[in-house]
Amino acid sequence: MKSRITSFLGEKYSRSFFEDASHYQKILGSEGILVLPHFINKLGLKKIVEEADNLKNVSFQSVSKYNVYVLPTDPNQSMKSARNRIMKTTKKCISNDLIASDSLLMEVYNDPTIKTFFATLFGVAELFPYSDPLSSVNINYYDQGDALGWHFDNSDFTITLLAKNCNKGGIYQYHTDMRYKEDGTENFDLVESILDQKVEPETQKAFAGDLMVFRGNKSLHQVTEVLEGERILITFNYNTKEGVSLSEKSRKTFFGRIA
Ligand SMILES: [Fe+2]
Repeated sequence: MKSRITSFLGEKYSRSFFEDASHYQKILGSEGILVLPHFINKLGLKKIVEEADNLKNVSFQSVSKYNVYVLPTDPNQSMKSARNRIMKTTKKCISNDLIASDSLLMEVYNDPTIKTFFATLFGVAELFPYSDPLSSVNINYYDQGDALGWHFDNSDFTITLLAKNCNKGGIYQYHTDMRYKEDGTENFDLVESILDQKVEPETQKAFAGDLMVFRGNKSLHQVTEVLEGERILITFNYNTKEGVSLSEKSRKTFFGRIA
């Protein structure tokens, strides 16, 4: 790990911290979520927020509508069903090619020690960046009125860094590891109860500088509408296989272009 990076990480996150992921792997395994508080220190956050602020004017504003499975509508089920009900996300996003190669964000993303730590958490030998130039590291801005609707992720794991928290709203809510029934089929009934607000979600308190690792493909999650202020969230996106691109449809939706 380069010494430049350690001056921007929280006190706890020394080389020896990253060398023993087993404890954190267990937490992620049992809770479905792992928070590393104060992962980035104040100095690092200042740099990251400055960079995000400078880039915001070239960010792409997206409005996306989808069902929680992020799949085409199933014609055999009603539009009100859990399978087809329409959710909505509005945000602004900066694609990876607009982030400077010497940015602290890229240093964190590419650091071999940190990457090996993440790989161990996920129980894989190696992690790879997206092969398209847009999708590996993204800066997401949620302004007043923006929200991330309920969904399951396509990828097994999500790694996020909260760079700036909003003053009101913008709360991360989730239901851990509930997607499938015991027989391995989709649990539409439970998803419907969640969408109908009959089941109370878990809420993750988050502070600027916190890194969160989340198993988003089995856990329904959302971020409630930002009511006041601005929320800036960095996503560090890896693949467990080499040569994977984000789908052209997703790139078009979130970046407004495919290359
Ligand atoms: Fe997600």
